[in-house]
Parts: sequence; C-alpha cells; structure tokens
Amino acid sequence: MELRENYSLKNYTTFKVDCRAEYFCELSDIDELTEVVQLSKSLKRPILFLGGGSNILFTKDVEQIVVKVNNRGIEILHEDEESIEIEVASGEDWDTFVEYTVSNGWGGIENLSLIPGSVGAAPIQNIGAYGVELKDVVVSVNAILLDSMVNKVFEIDECIFGYRDSFFKNELKNKLFIRSVNLKLSKNPILKTEYGSIKEELNRRGIKSPNLKDIRNIVCDIRKNKLPDPKVIGNAGSFFKNPVVVKSISEKILLEYPEVPTYRISDNEVKIPAGWLIEKSGLKGKRSGETGIHNDQALVIVNYGNASGEEIVKFKDFVKQTVYEKFNILLQEEVNIF
Ligand code: EPU
Repeated sequence: MELRENYSLKNYTTFKVDCRAEYFCELSDIDELTEVVQLSKSLKRPILFLGGGSNILFTKDVEQIVVKVNNRGIEILHEDEESIEIEVASGEDWDTFVEYTVSNGWGGIENLSLIPGSVGAAPIQNIGAYGVELKDVVVSVNAILLDSMVNKVFEIDECIFGYRDSFFKNELKNKLFIRSVNLKLSKNPILKTEYGSIKEELNRRGIKSPNLKDIRNIVCDIRKNKLPDPKVIGNAGSFFKNPVVVKSISEKILLEYPEVPTYRISDNEVKIPAGWLIEKSGLKGKRSGETGIHNDQALVIVNYGNASGEEIVKFKDFVKQTVYEKFNILLQEEVNIF
C-alpha cells in the first residue's frame, strides 16, 4: 500500500474541488485494512473512506487519512428460479453493477441506473430514484468494525434505513469499513413504472409492456437530460434533501401555488420537492462566480470549473436563506460537507 502526502483530491470527487489530503492511499485488498488502521492509530488521525466521491464536498485540506476504496468482486451466493442473491464488493462502481444485473435479466435496481458512486456508499445514503430505494433490495451489509477489526453483518433491520439515511451515516459514522453489500434481485421482476417521468416517457415511446432494459434506458435518458454529467461539469447530484413539512405549511403554499407538487408522508406531513422551492425562489440557473444552480434541475449546485469548496458553501447558504425567506422552510443538505 502506497501512502501519499499532500495529495490533490480534485479528481476523486465529482464536485471537482481542488483540496488536498494530508495523507492518501488506495485500498484494493481488504488485507491492507489492518495496515491502514495501524497507520491511523500511529498518526492519531481518523480515516475517511472515499468511494466514488459523488456525494461529498471538501471545503479545506483534509486532515483525516483519505482512503480510496477500490476492492472488487461480484459473487453469486444463492439462486433459484425466482431470485438471486449477490454479494458485491464496496469498491465496485454502482452503475457498472446495475448494467450487469440488467443485462442478466435480474430486476430490482434498474430504476437506480446511472447514479454516480460506488457500491459501498450506496447503503450509507440509501440511494434512491424513480420510486426505488436501495433498501428495497438489500439483504445485509458486511462491515469490519475498525476498533476491533471484527467482521459484522448488518441484517437489513439493523441498517435503520431512512430517506437518504442509515445507521452507517449516524451512530456508526467513522466506526466501520463497509466491505460488501448483499442484494436480492428478482428473475421475474415487477417493474416500478409509476414515477411521473418514467410513465410519461413510456407513453411517449409507445412502450406498453416494458422490460428491464427499457426501464434502464429511460432512466438513463431522463437523468442525462436533467442532471449535469459530473464528467463534464462538477456537481454532486441533489445538493439538498426534499423537505418534509407539516400540512399547515404546504396548505399556505398551495394558496399561492395550487400546482405545487407534494407527496404524502403521513396524515399531517407532506414532502415538497426542494428543486421546486428553489426554482420558485427565482434561483434556477442563478450563477455566482464559479458556482451556481443548474439550469435544468434546481436541486443541483454546480462547479463551473474553479469553484472552491468555501465558495460553494457560501452559495448554498444563500440558497437556503432565500428559500427560507420565501417559504419558511429550511432546506437540509444531502451532500456531506467536510
Ligand atoms: N422540480 C421543479 N424544478 C426543478 C426540479 C424539480 O419544479 O428544478 C419539480 C419537478 O417538476 C417535479 C418534482 O420537482 O414535480 C420532482 O422532481 P424530480 O423528479 O426531478 O426529482 P427531485 O425530487 O428533484 C429526487 C432525488 C433525485 C432522484 C429524483 C428521481 C432527492 C434529494 N433527490 O429529485 O436523487 O434522481 O428524485 O427520483 O431526493 C440525488 O439524490 O442526488 C438525486 C439526484
């Protein structure tokens, strides 16, 4: 394992912000983890595991030991006529894995196509899109506890998945290394086509009985049309979560904007798209120096090239403030800010 010092992270996050890691290494083999943990103890610095870097914003040079997770491997654990259980290493690229499952005819994650990032980061965020969340297919998450180096299997009930949330993001933050994830996929999948934009696209294309590949193609096309490609323009997908508000707040908004999209959460709560709130606050396409709100999806903050992390943080605070003043709703960041 090669340890680098003062190493640029610009190409290791999709935001493409130029910060440096005081210590950086890549972990391709799980056996190297012991070495990394020993290093962390001797340098008295915690470890920051980095997957695809697609949900992270660095605002300054990083004091933690940055470990790029690169372990690979896909193993079929069990299969019958109906389903298949697969163990996927955390360092695998998420979308390459989705493509592999779709091409084999295994359903369950086709709606999560083209989400940038690694397999290991997927359960931390409980990634979701177009009516599907990772939790719908997880069997277990296989981890190594860093203080004892003991293997621990987290069955789905122990993962405490929520909307873009999990046990790993909270109490267990920085306490473990996610080695792999076990997923159960279906050989006779019931496709999830209810999400508005998928339905519209199926109608537009005249597809009445879609298959897995149709759904993957449609999701990829919707994402390519709406979301900026991080390879072309720096961003980390949705910057904010969609807020859940009490009905009294949404009813007030409804008076002025009867068209506001809302999703029922409970008798007294609804979710409102943050992208809609930002757009109605007049910020869609708003640019400030090297950063700004994307033209086609107001939930995405972009780096036009040379934005610093601090500049982006200042801008997102301005977005929060503007939305708060207009709607009395305080947005919460989805992106992890360091
Ligand atoms: N909307 C606007 N203006 C905008 C953006 C959205 O009015 O600029 C409205 C749309 O018209 C629609 C509603 O908001 O009525 C929802 O929009 P969209 O389908 O684009 O989804 P989203 O709520 O903005 C969420 C996820 C995305 C995920 C999509 C599709 C969060 C924080 N974001 O976005 O996830 O791809 O749904 O399921 O939940 C991510 O997490 O990084 C991400 C991209």
